[in-house]
Amino acid sequence: MQVIESVAAFRQAHGGAQKPLGLVPTMGFLHEGHLALVRRARAENATAAVSIFVNPTQFGPSEDFSSYPRDMDADLAKLEGAGVDLVFAPTVDEVYPAGFDTHVDVGRIGARLEGEHRAGHFQGVATVVCKLLAIVRPDRAYFGQKDAQQCLVVKRLNADLNLGAEIVVCPTVRDADGLALSSRNVYLSAAERIAALSLHGALVLARELHRAGVMDADEIRARMRRLIGEQPLASIDYISIADAQDLTELDRIDAAALVSLAVRIGKTRLIDNVIL
Ligand code: PAF
Repeated sequence: MQVIESVAAFRQAHGGAQKPLGLVPTMGFLHEGHLALVRRARAENATAAVSIFVNPTQFGPSEDFSSYPRDMDADLAKLEGAGVDLVFAPTVDEVYPAGFDTHVDVGRIGARLEGEHRAGHFQGVATVVCKLLAIVRPDRAYFGQKDAQQCLVVKRLNADLNLGAEIVVCPTVRDADGLALSSRNVYLSAAERIAALSLHGALVLARELHRAGVMDADEIRARMRRLIGEQPLASIDYISIADAQDLTELDRIDAAALVSLAVRIGKTRLIDNVIL
């Protein structure tokens, strides 16, 4: 496994790499969710590449960029064990050198939900993903469904800018109790972790109500809100039931709907979703 920090060195290694090449972009602190993407990339491509870069431009000024969990040694050991060929782990200066001044605006799909609550987040995501796809030039790039809106943003970006990668979206990986895996779960105390189960609980409730024939999105949102409201440690940023393609909020569920939510558990902000 080659670990490469500079764009120039990655380009060189890329030249000798066998195709197809699959890329898993990550911010490190790898868990089973990331490793599921890595295993899929490994199985489907002659070369498996992973990027590890905690991207400062996707964090707001009051968010957790500086405290975001990092453990490069453990990450590299996991990637080595998973049979990865190339790791691109650039510094911030390598990705954003002095004079850097181009930002990718993903338009409507990035303005909703997370975009409303985290100003500039998707501009940061789109800019770094665009750069990673331009540097690594993968045939396939792998993303987790847990970040459902990010997947839509990346698909839009990839299509609109003709970046030419196949965007592969992989299912959310959960702990046995239903909590979606996230690097930020490490912030949760024992009591907060219990409260955090209400996110999955609310999504399961939405699915059950829908299966039972409830099509009124407001009724489902209200029932989800009530369930999470039972947890004093939880504070809801949003609960959304939206068209799964363009993310416009729905009154009635008569097409594929993305049920998504962002909830603060103490100081930790978690997101999760399910498709109906
Ligand atoms: O999902 C993530 O870890 C990040 O948003 C990504 C796609 C690696 C871009 O920094």
